[in-house]
Amino acid sequence: MNAQNVNSKLMNSQTQPSESATSEQRVKPKTLTTLQQAKANQLPISMVTAYDAGFARLAIEAGIDILLVGDSLGMVVQGQRDTLSVSMDEMVYHTQMVRRGTPTGLVMADLPFLSDTDIPTVLRNAGRLIQEGGADIVKIEATAAKADLVQAMTDAGIAVCAHIGLLPQKVRQLGGYRVRGRDVDDAAVVMRDAELLTHAGAAMVLVECVPSALGARITKSVDVPVIGIGAGVDVDGQVLVMNDLLGMNPHPARFVRDFLRGRGGILQALQAYADAVRSRSFPAEHEGFV
Ligand code: KIV
Repeated sequence: MNAQNVNSKLMNSQTQPSESATSEQRVKPKTLTTLQQAKANQLPISMVTAYDAGFARLAIEAGIDILLVGDSLGMVVQGQRDTLSVSMDEMVYHTQMVRRGTPTGLVMADLPFLSDTDIPTVLRNAGRLIQEGGADIVKIEATAAKADLVQAMTDAGIAVCAHIGLLPQKVRQLGGYRVRGRDVDDAAVVMRDAELLTHAGAAMVLVECVPSALGARITKSVDVPVIGIGAGVDVDGQVLVMNDLLGMNPHPARFVRDFLRGRGGILQALQAYADAVRSRSFPAEHEGFV
């Protein structure tokens, strides 16, 4: 069976319901194992942010594989200028809402700024996202310097996604949002982050704003699923902020596409996004960086 046939078989098994099944029942729950298989079979993985129950339910119904309760909620929900003021209590609160919207969907939740300063702190806070929030995976913005934290969480039985490349929690330190890995030295740093963090146990990698060629190299060099945002099409999956893909951002980044434009509603926009990720028609070349 070629990749396209496998792809449409997967889509059909997700989207052709028995008459009586609810959307939650008819979508086979995703797990880290199914994501690992998707990488092995080159079936692109779709992911979107969600911050509440209603959008979470719609995204799962649309066939999206992973929901990310991102600390981007500080900006798109709370109206803050960046993500740095988001608290652990707020992350737990939004993760609980998303979990209520999808009892069985795969939910990843962010460790917010300064929730990961040392091993006891990160274990306590990651534990809260899982035990109180109901998350399946926690995401940590990390460089190789945080490999010990990833190792400690993994040893404790926590599934970790390492967010590398552009790290929004460093925006005030760096003075802005910049594409990473454009020169040879910085590309080597980002590549090393990916390798050391996966060796420390990260079960997934999320890479933000790197040249498309670097996104592709990272994806080849690590054996866990790599989800990109502004990292080109040759990664294992894509993530977008919900509000961005619904055209709510007045100043969208280059890698954002408005999937609501010309469509009937939010469910259709989310389905179009999931389809575009699966068919690798998103992102287009001009939606990536060189
Ligand atoms: O917080 C978030 O929404 C994120 C995405 C930008 C990937 O980390």
